[in-house]
Amino acid sequence: MDSHSDALVFFGATGDLAYKKIFPALHAMAKRGHLNVPVIGVAKAGWGLDQLKARAKDSIEKHGGVDSRAFEKLMGLLHYIDGDYKDPATFQALRRELGSAQRPAHYLAIPPVLFALVVEQLAKSSCAQGARVIIEKPFGRDLTSAQELNRTLLSIFNEKAIFRIDHYLGKSPVHHMVFFRFGNALLEPFWNRNHVESVQITMAENFGVQGRGAFYDETGAIRDVVQNHLFQVMANLAMEPPPRIDSESLRDEKVKVLKAIPPLEPKSVIRGQFKGYKNEKGVAADSQVETFAAVQLEVDSWRWKGVPFYIRAGKCLPVTCAEIVVRLRQPPTVYEGYKLASNYYRFRISPEIESEFGMNKIAVEDESASETTKLVVSRHPRPDEMDAYERVLGDAMAGDASLFAREDYVEEAWRIVDPVLKAGTPVYEYEPNSWGPAEVDRVTPPGGWQNPVMEG
Ligand code: BG6
Repeated sequence: MDSHSDALVFFGATGDLAYKKIFPALHAMAKRGHLNVPVIGVAKAGWGLDQLKARAKDSIEKHGGVDSRAFEKLMGLLHYIDGDYKDPATFQALRRELGSAQRPAHYLAIPPVLFALVVEQLAKSSCAQGARVIIEKPFGRDLTSAQELNRTLLSIFNEKAIFRIDHYLGKSPVHHMVFFRFGNALLEPFWNRNHVESVQITMAENFGVQGRGAFYDETGAIRDVVQNHLFQVMANLAMEPPPRIDSESLRDEKVKVLKAIPPLEPKSVIRGQFKGYKNEKGVAADSQVETFAAVQLEVDSWRWKGVPFYIRAGKCLPVTCAEIVVRLRQPPTVYEGYKLASNYYRFRISPEIESEFGMNKIAVEDESASETTKLVVSRHPRPDEMDAYERVLGDAMAGDASLFAREDYVEEAWRIVDPVLKAGTPVYEYEPNSWGPAEVDRVTPPGGWQNPVMEG
């Protein structure tokens, strides 16, 4: 692991992401004793440091609560520069504020249109020297724009200094998935095309666009969560065991999964839009943007060739839950007359971790029938568990790239979705609180979508 960053600069300090995620993450780092370097917020808001501190307090109060010692620590480290990103003076001020820092980490929590401008200004002002850069998603909006952004970044930073955030990777259940796969011998014998019939991944959210209409209407479900978060989950499921657990070995295996996936065909995608979306603030009255997507992919690798992978994601669905179901092939029927269900393995990533094996047993009420019994292992998050943003920010500052998307990975992911983004496939309406449009039948795993069932 490389040396730790000796300052954290975050652009977009007065923005929404800073308010919802970054201040709470910095506060949690301070509470754990993990934050000991100057933190410099940059924004153009006409603010001073006191206003930023008040905003930080409000943010932390609303997201988990203030721990007075941690808060004092964070306030002692916080600096603020108010200035336009187009103005070289802003970056000269930043250079002065960085003082003797040799290895700053610059976190770009700003709209993507500003990424190139800010990194170029960092370079011109010598703020990029010895530095790392942390880039928020979305990383481009298609293959061409992602390649262009990569070229800009790589003209100033080398790949080892670039940290492309996908906060899903910072979620502990997403780690747990990889551990569960490679920390146990049990799964491996059936984790392949010989035994698996299909794999389905569902990310359901029971809320709409939550005031982010303008952003969402430029994005849609495929760009917002499928191309990044859910591809990462799929890569964790489908990858080969890495020879070592260092960042490059892990990321090499993930890229190999994406390389084995042919571009999506329009017929393998169903897009939906919940009724009422067009009335959201910031959304075009004739919007054709999807708030729901179901896609079928092929992973043409030695392990998975012929096993369909399905991904489904949507807003305004009945529950908020993310989970995977790996359905196994039917056993040969020696039990004539018994209707045997497929065995399955289900892994829930959110809101809690749950692993479940679905197996057949003789029914309690009727000895001539079979019923599914569930072997469940669950783990609820600990109250002090690291939030995704705390984990990814900490790792970027420590120089550990394992939980970040590498250049080749991002480009492969865009290559897969690019044709459907351009195809303009139909968008079907669905009722809020339903499992998407009826047309989703056309992109449905054998045996159907298994909808997450929430306790209580
Ligand atoms: C974000 C998307 O990246 O991830 C949101 O922009 C989505 O639309 C969110 O709601 C889901 O992440 P989490 O951590 O809230 O489950």
